[in-house]
Amino acid sequence: MASILILYSTTDGHTIKICNRLKQVIEEGDHRVTVQAIADFRELDLQSFDKIVVGASIRYGKHQQRVYDFIDDHLPLLESKANAFFTVNIVARKANKNRPQTNPYLLKFLRQTAWRPNELAVFAGKLDYPSYGFIDRQMIRLIMLITHGPTDPSTVVEFTDWASVDDFARRVSAMLLGEVGKSS
Ligand SMILES: Cc1cc2nc3c(=O)[nH]c(=O)nc-3n(C[C@H](O)[C@H](O)[C@H](O)COP(=O)(O)O)c2cc1C
Repeated sequence: MASILILYSTTDGHTIKICNRLKQVIEEGDHRVTVQAIADFRELDLQSFDKIVVGASIRYGKHQQRVYDFIDDHLPLLESKANAFFTVNIVARKANKNRPQTNPYLLKFLRQTAWRPNELAVFAGKLDYPSYGFIDRQMIRLIMLITHGPTDPSTVVEFTDWASVDDFARRVSAMLLGEVGKSS
């Protein structure tokens, strides 16, 4: 049995939903999963986990800076564990942008950090116009207009491919302890 930590960064909460699904699937395999906001990582003893997963959503083209800060500050620790990263964004609703090799935010992430996670994943996020403030709603509608997505301001849609989340959960479960630097 492995002890797995999933650290997340979210603005609107959808990444937490993905983390909870990962937890559910991984724990069916008899591992223990802790899901925690990356902002509150100090509440945990990071060394006590066998595997660490970081998940972060995109807002206006960026993952939160605290994700990069955490990685910069803990790179040797991350690399001493089995480790994985996933990104959540709306661009990933497109079939040609939903893989680590094709998603622009995942590619940018890898350019911005020295970390080379053992496993990577890209998940499409949620569009929830009614919950956004006026300016955010208009901005996202404009982006959707340009990229041929839904623009009706009453639209609430989860683009997340939950089968792909389940597949990532199984890959995280299968990562071997001490499998350090597999992809580097
Ligand atoms: C104000 C705002 C800006 C966003 N900017 C982007 C963006 O630049 N690129 C993108 O692919 N998705 C963008 N999204 C979509 C989010 O990544 C998506 O809604 C995701 O599910 C949010 O995850 P979270 O709820 O965990 O924060 C944006 C969403 C909002 C509300």
